[in-house]
This record gives sequence, C-alpha cells and structure tokens, in this order.
Amino acid sequence: IDEFGAPYVVKADGLAAGKGVIVTSDREAALAHADTYLPSGPVLVEEFLAGPEVSLFFLSDGDTVRALSPAQDFKRALDGDEGPNTGGMGAYSPLPWLGERFGGEDAFVAQVTAEVAEPVIRQLDAEGTPFIGLLYAGLILTESGVKVIEFNARFGDPETQVVLARLRSPLSRLLLAAASGTLESEPAPEFSADAAVTVVLASEGYPEAPQTGRAIEGTDAAASVDGVHLAHAATATADGALVATGGRVLNVVAVGADLADARERAYTALERITLEGGHYRRDIAARAAG
Ligand code: GLY
Repeated sequence: IDEFGAPYVVKADGLAAGKGVIVTSDREAALAHADTYLPSGPVLVEEFLAGPEVSLFFLSDGDTVRALSPAQDFKRALDGDEGPNTGGMGAYSPLPWLGERFGGEDAFVAQVTAEVAEPVIRQLDAEGTPFIGLLYAGLILTESGVKVIEFNARFGDPETQVVLARLRSPLSRLLLAAASGTLESEPAPEFSADAAVTVVLASEGYPEAPQTGRAIEGTDAAASVDGVHLAHAATATADGALVATGGRVLNVVAVGADLADARERAYTALERITLEGGHYRRDIAARAAG
C-alpha cells in the first residue's frame, strides 16, 4: 500500500458496482477498507490519478473504431464530490471545457481514439481475441496527459443516458454495423449540439443501506417538463403504485440548448417527484454550466 503513497486508492473487484472503491489520504482507512473486502475478493491498490474524469465510449467491430460523444459522471454521493463512491449520481454531455485544453471536443476525441482505442483494438485483434462491442474508456486528464483509469466492455451508467439523449444517428444501425463488421462503411455517429444532463434520484441510505419499497409520486408531472424524460433503474409497480426497489431509483434526463438550460429542466422535474428519504445531488454539471 505504500508503493504509491497518499492519497490511496483501494479498489475491490468490479462486482461491488463502483462502491468497493475508496480514495483517501488516511492510510489506516485504506487498510481497513482492504480488510473489509479481502474475504470476498482481490483488492487492488492503484496510483492516484489527479484530474477531471471523462468517459468516452467507442463502438468496435473488431477492426474499425467509432467514438461517441464524451460525458462526465459524478461518482460521489454528495455535493462537492463528498461522501462515499456510488454507481454514479449524475452525468452531462458535451464537455465544453475540453475546448480550452485540447482545442475542441473533436480534437480530444481524435487524440483518445488514436492513442487509446485504436491501439487496444489492434492489440486484441493481434492476440486473436478481436473486441466487438462497446469499449468504455474511463479517462483521467492528468497534468502529464490523458490516462486510462479503467476499461469496461459495456455502456456506462449514468453517462449513457446523456450520450444517447444527444445521439442523432440511429443506435440500432451502429450496433448492427459493429456486430456485423461493417462500421467502416457506416457514417460516423452524429450528435446534436444540445446539452444533456441526468440526475439520479437515490433511496435513503444509498449507497450503504438503501431503503426500498417506498412509494414514488410525481413521475408523470416530472416527465411533462419540456425536454425531460425519465429512465427507470430500480422501480416496480406494487398494487398499482410505483415503488423504489433499489439504491439508484431513476434518472431524470433533460436536454436543453446548453448545460444551464438542461440543468434547470432536470431540477425542475426532480422537484416534482417525491420519495420519502430520497436524495440527489444538486451540483450535477454546475461548474461546467458556468
Ligand atoms: N459510470 C460508471 C460506470 O458505468 O462504470
């Protein structure tokens, strides 16, 4: 654990759904976290990478790679990136601040495609295990360059809610082209210039001990806000009523002319939803919206 020094990043295996990670400057807390997870699986101690996190998804047919639009998610439970890690409390896309550092979002995407996605896809192909599907690159933009913190072979949650909200090209065509080896002849995915923000409504006690079975009201009123739709995650109907069945209950997804507009719509909609003890972050995309 002392190889990298503080802050320490201790990560339980992926089955912990993002909640098995602790980032702390307290060596004892890092060791205690490792102890908690040691009985159930391997623990990885990683170098801490400082900088903003960006999620970038790529479709691959094993040879050709097509990037989607970058998004940023908010993994901590509380405003100001405080509290425990979660599966994700909100996300937004696009990331206007990428322009300052990379000369535009397109330049950033081109760089990560050339330096990260294409080499990975080429290497997997060379090893006889071509990757066909969705490659999720979790990136940290450090002072010394773009670093990969993780790959997933799936769409990310909640980033997908905002990336797909802006996707203009038919997703089914892109997925079919990836599956059938024809991505090269498919036009690059197109995205609207609109901004999208999603905010996750979580149950009381999430992530440690979510309270479930509580009634959710006001979803129709929330979904009637212009530009808003709901993406349900842990809901069910019981005796005709909508109830929460897990920690991250639903996403309020809003599209607007810019991030400030999308934020306003998302939070207007959230205020119409009631869930006893429910909580959500109030600062999703706040800094990026300016
Ligand atoms: N948003 C993090 C994940 O999907 O793993």
